[in-house]
Amino acid sequence: MQEQTPFNVEAFRDQFPILAEQYGVYLDSAATTLTPKAVIDAEVQYYATERATVGRSDYRAAINASQKIEAVRERLSHSLNKPSSSYLIFCPGATAALNIAAQALSWQPGDNIITTIVEHSSNFLPWLRLHKFGIEIRIARPDTGTQLNSNDILSLVDAHTRLIAVTHVSNVTGEELPIQEITAEAHRKGILCVVDGAQAFGHLSIDLTELDCDVYAASAHKAFGPTGIGFLALSGRALEQMDPPWVGGGMVNILEGLDYTIKSGVSGWEAGTPNVSGILGFGASLPIREIAVSPPAVLHTKKLVEQTIEGLNRFPEIQLLSSETSSSIITFSIKDQRPHRVSSFLDETAHIMLRAGLMCAIPLHQDIFARPHGSLRVSLAPYNTQDEINLFLQTLCSFSETYAKIFSFPRK
Ligand SMILES: Cc1ncc(COP(=O)(O)O)c(C=O)c1O
Repeated sequence: MQEQTPFNVEAFRDQFPILAEQYGVYLDSAATTLTPKAVIDAEVQYYATERATVGRSDYRAAINASQKIEAVRERLSHSLNKPSSSYLIFCPGATAALNIAAQALSWQPGDNIITTIVEHSSNFLPWLRLHKFGIEIRIARPDTGTQLNSNDILSLVDAHTRLIAVTHVSNVTGEELPIQEITAEAHRKGILCVVDGAQAFGHLSIDLTELDCDVYAASAHKAFGPTGIGFLALSGRALEQMDPPWVGGGMVNILEGLDYTIKSGVSGWEAGTPNVSGILGFGASLPIREIAVSPPAVLHTKKLVEQTIEGLNRFPEIQLLSSETSSSIITFSIKDQRPHRVSSFLDETAHIMLRAGLMCAIPLHQDIFARPHGSLRVSLAPYNTQDEINLFLQTLCSFSETYAKIFSFPRK
């Protein structure tokens, strides 16, 4: 086996200006990642020297901005190995992408949609909303434990199933779902598959040709890009059944009286002026994302996950809720402690930032974990270090010692 080049954490960290400040220990990258200088520079450059509209004027600055946007689309399509028959559409982010997908299909009463109990609200509510219009919503749950397998989902399929909507990686358990198994079986039965890639995009190499899903949705800001920009990739199969739900400027082909036709191709799906600076910043983040999903960076993050899990396992009052195979997410709860109290203590004591609460995964916390107040989540990116994890564990230890006295936790 070939030796892997070790990951240079310092060189990676150097790309993030905020880490040169006394920013603290950032362990909330699943919520949003920090921003590299290249992304900040790309946005500033557009506003400072290249400001123009896109896709609708023929002066040189507008043509230049339009070309730059198409170059970002091209690079992103290439890095996702997007099939040529599918469209890569820019939109404000994963939430917008999933809502667009839900509204682009014309539903028939009696259709059913399968989604899962682990979903983030953004891949749950757009489907629940359709329940009001007579669509049945089926929610897959793990047969045992907290991890879903393809059978938990596919066993709910019947002749009326129109669509399966699943996450690629859970934002709470960090579990990666077997997308290829699900899409292969779904397509045999003519069912569309929507994949929420929000948590996968910044951590995994994504091959849309292999995954073969019908919608893939993600946000740039969880993969070192700016906020307010993301994409949805629509398969040729999906495009045959969908109509763009957003209409307006830039996407009309012919408008006569009350009749209109829409442009063919991607333009028909991108009504209105896009987030130009966001797309350019997104483009600048792609090389950094490529480093982050490369094997040395993934291995570095995986080792930090192991270090964190090993440390947490030493606290008898802590229960791990995430999957052991997660590559960047560690979710846990502390006996008798409200998650927000713990996170505030960590921030106020050592400026450690992590997520506390329901994490937009309410059914999972309520029905599977039985944790109505939520849990705590450490989520990592390749800029995190062993020293940061040590500081986190030490600070958690002082929380435990402070509160163990009050709550008399049994110590190991
Ligand atoms: C799994 C998952 N899906 C969807 C989203 C929504 O992403 P955004 O808020 O960028 O639209 C998130 C954000 O936390 C997420 O973790």
